[in-house]
Formats: sequence, structure tokens, C-alpha cells
Amino acid sequence: MLAGKVALITGAGGGIGREFALAMARAGARVVVNDLGTSVQGEGASSAPAEKVVQEIRAAGGQAIANADSVAEWTAANRIVQAALDAYGRIDVVVNNAGILRDRFFFNMAVEEWRAVIDVHLNGSFYVARAAAPHFKGQQSGCYLHMTSTSGLVGNLGQANYAAAKLGIVGLSKSIALDMAKYGVRSNCIAPFAWSRMIGSIPAETEDQKARVEKLKSMETAKIAPLAVFLSSDLSKEISGQIFCVRANELFLMSQSRPLKAAYRAKGWTPQAIADEALPAWRESLYKLDRSQDVFSWDPR
Ligand SMILES: NC(=O)c1ccc[n+]([C@@H]2O[C@H](COP(=O)([O-])OP(=O)(O)OC[C@H]3O[C@@H](n4cnc5c(N)ncnc54)[C@H](O)[C@@H]3O)[C@@H](O)[C@H]2O)c1
Repeated sequence: MLAGKVALITGAGGGIGREFALAMARAGARVVVNDLGTSVQGEGASSAPAEKVVQEIRAAGGQAIANADSVAEWTAANRIVQAALDAYGRIDVVVNNAGILRDRFFFNMAVEEWRAVIDVHLNGSFYVARAAAPHFKGQQSGCYLHMTSTSGLVGNLGQANYAAAKLGIVGLSKSIALDMAKYGVRSNCIAPFAWSRMIGSIPAETEDQKARVEKLKSMETAKIAPLAVFLSSDLSKEISGQIFCVRANELFLMSQSRPLKAAYRAKGWTPQAIADEALPAWRESLYKLDRSQDVFSWDPR
């Protein structure tokens, strides 16, 4: 399904990205396995995770190279794309998957915690995507996949940095899809649910939180890969600018923001008129302060 294609996957040394790398190699792609080999919080670095995945791919008869540059820096991100060109002479698929967490309630969040998460997720996704863009444009084809999260799409406690980055990625993906459609380039997002070390790092103190974590353990990282392979292949050539969600054996096409209710007043609005006329008309439609788990409230299956 991906024969002849070169796929670059960031953060592919473990978790969801590792499964993407293995599945894309099995589908015939030559794979660049990028991973900084860092902790969930983004501390430390090692080339070992990326190299290990490359060995696994080669042992299964596939083709892959490792790269341990950070996505969170422009020149390093360019080296990741260059690694694909140096090894295989082309690049067809870019998967922005690398990620870290620095969870903290908003009122306690340090600037450094904000910046580190924005740098890896949002800036990193831009850097790697932007570095590949001239090659996609030149060859009049290419496919971007970006990992977003229901923490951004819906909401979650203690993740202002992560939610902002992940919703920013949705805007980035849609913009790429619009700007590069004329060059045959596509861009889509996946919001995964999967038990990985990242999810394992979520604090579970209350009984409610512990029960939720037990359910999360049943969601395997490998379950995200079929959608990623599909979206990277020519089978999905009509799909761009979309947001998907995967939870074990469930796939979702997610909604995108559109006007929900309108209010019109011929003589214009005053603050009091908004309170008196628009608010009563809208009250029933106002969104609750939902978290991801309130919306995805049933057990994964
Ligand atoms: N697991 C889930 O349920 C879930 C939910 C929503 C979104 N996501 C997203 O899916 C993606 C993969 O997450 P995961 O759960 O597999 O986590 P993970 O921690 O297992 O994998 C993330 C990988 O990214 C690498 N990385 C971190 N910073 C990097 C950098 N600067 N440059 C290159 N590599 C870097 C890490 O070394 C790690 O191997 C992330 O973007 C995450 O936000 C995951």
C-alpha cells in the first residue's frame, strides 16, 4: 500500500509512533524513524529508541534509518527531513507524532512548562512540516499527518499548554491542506487514544481516575496504525483537512467548528440586548465545560 513511498515519523522510538513506523514499513514504505529518545517530560536524549525500532524493521525485512534530532528546533528539524532525502532521495509522508507532557493546573503553570510543550508539539510540527514543504511542492505530491488530542478538541484538566498546542496543530493542518491542495499535498489530523508511557504518566489518585486509567490500558497503540497507513496511502487521496479519532476498534470522523446559533437585531446590539435576547435563545446550546472523558464516556471497545 505504501510501496515506493518514503515516510518520516517523528517520535517513532516508542508508543504510537513506533507502531506507525512498523506498520508503514510492513506496507512497503522506506521509513525514517525519528526520536529524540527523551523522557515524557522532554528531559534527556538518546539515539537508542530510534535505532531499536530501525533494527526491528530491518529484522522483519523492511527498510529504515534512524534519526535522533529534536523536532523542537528549526535547524534540527531540517536535518530530519534531509536524512530522508540523503538516504532515499525523496520524501512522501510526514507524520508529526513527537510529543511531551508538562501537565500543571493553569494557575500554577510555569512559562517554561508552557514553552516546552508548545515547542515540541506546535512549533515542532510546523518546523518538520515546513522543512518538507518545498520537496512536496516540487514533486506535486505529499501527505502530512499530525497527532492532535481530544485534550485540545474537547478539553482536559491541567493541560493548558498541551491543549493549546494540539488545537494549534489542527489549525496548522487545515492551513497546510488549504495552501498546498494545488500541489496535490494533503494534511490530516488524528486524535488517538492509546495506552502509552505518556498516558501512564497521568496522575491517578482518586478512585474515578484509577478506574479511567484501567480502561485506557485496553487501548493498544497498534490500533492507531491502520488509520495512519490508510491516510498516508493513495487510498485516501480524496481526504484532506480532516480530523479523525481512534479508540481501540472505534474510528471517529470529528466535527469542525461552524456557526451553531445565530442572532440578528436590525438596530444592532447593546450588552443589555445580548443579555435579554441573544442569551435566552442560546442558553440551551451553550457547551458544557466538558472534558474528553465526558464526551467519550463509554468503555473502549
Ligand atoms: N497516547 C494517547 O492516548 C494520546 C492521546 C492523544 C494524543 N497523543 C499524541 O500522540 C503522539 C504520540 O504519543 P505517545 O502516547 O505514543 O507518547 P510517547 O511518549 O510514547 O511517544 C512520544 C515520543 O516522542 C519523542 N519525542 C519527544 N520530544 C521529541 C522531540 N523534541 N523530537 C523528537 N522526538 C521527541 C519521545 O522520545 C517519545 O518516544 C503525541 O503527539 C501525543 O501527544 C497520544
